[in-house]
Amino acid sequence: SKIEPATKAVPALPDAQTVTDVKHYTDRLFSFRMTRPASMRFRSGEFVMIGLMGDPHPETGKVKPLLRAYSIASPSWDEELEFYSIKVPDGPLTSKLQHIKVGDDVIMRPKPVGTLVHDALLPGKRIWFFATGTGFAPFASLLREPQTYEDYDEIIITHTCREVGELTYGRDLIESLKTDELLNEVIGEGFWKKIKYYPTTTREQSPKMGRITDLMKSGEAFEDLGVPPLNPDNDRAMICGNMAFNLELKDMFEDYGLVEGANSNPQHYVVEKAFLD
Ligand code: A2P
Repeated sequence: SKIEPATKAVPALPDAQTVTDVKHYTDRLFSFRMTRPASMRFRSGEFVMIGLMGDPHPETGKVKPLLRAYSIASPSWDEELEFYSIKVPDGPLTSKLQHIKVGDDVIMRPKPVGTLVHDALLPGKRIWFFATGTGFAPFASLLREPQTYEDYDEIIITHTCREVGELTYGRDLIESLKTDELLNEVIGEGFWKKIKYYPTTTREQSPKMGRITDLMKSGEAFEDLGVPPLNPDNDRAMICGNMAFNLELKDMFEDYGLVEGANSNPQHYVVEKAFLD
């Protein structure tokens, strides 16, 4: 009788979650939502490892999960999880991840960690969120976190991107807060008036051009926002962007007299690197 070729065992995806929504913003950016394990707890601003199974090894046929750190963009109270991602054409993970559809499986190790959390900051009056590109993701979580508005009188979010289309995800998110029933009810009608949004672009014309770092060094950003430069008495800050951006802001903060904090040692500011494939 005919012998069937041995089929390779396809491992069931470990820690699989199901995609519930996908939105594409530009040829470089997309966001998606997926189911959340009932037992999973996290603090707004944390990240998890997510990914897909990689290609089979050319000789052994073995497949291994391909995982990267992704900030959770949804708040801790949300029943689903949201992520905001870059698409890198030859990126090992994002070249595949950008094609996910509703109903697909995504692997997630449900062990959230990270330093962009309220626990890592001392009490203050004003909190600054500084993002470039997909570094907006943890702030999409924190901007929907009631504690952000309970702990601070003023929330300033700066977002520097190359092009105007890269601001859409953040702008839409901030706009959506105005009609967010849960937040308006929990924190109070009009809570979103505490937010000052400061988007800038560097390679395409927009109302505010330039890197946020340069705009702060010249004083222009503070003038536009109507606030004084950061000081350790009143201001707290979280940074999430590309490496050069993070380092430049850290240098500036040291000049302002701000001290970097951690979960075990809350201080004036915290930093995390935005995901790059
Ligand atoms: P620029 O266009 O002047 O490089 P990227 O997509 O390369 O991660 O960059 C995202 C945004 O961050 C871009 O607008 C980029 O500006 C800006 N950027 C890059 N490096 C710095 C830095 N050291 N300080 C401030 N902004 C930066």
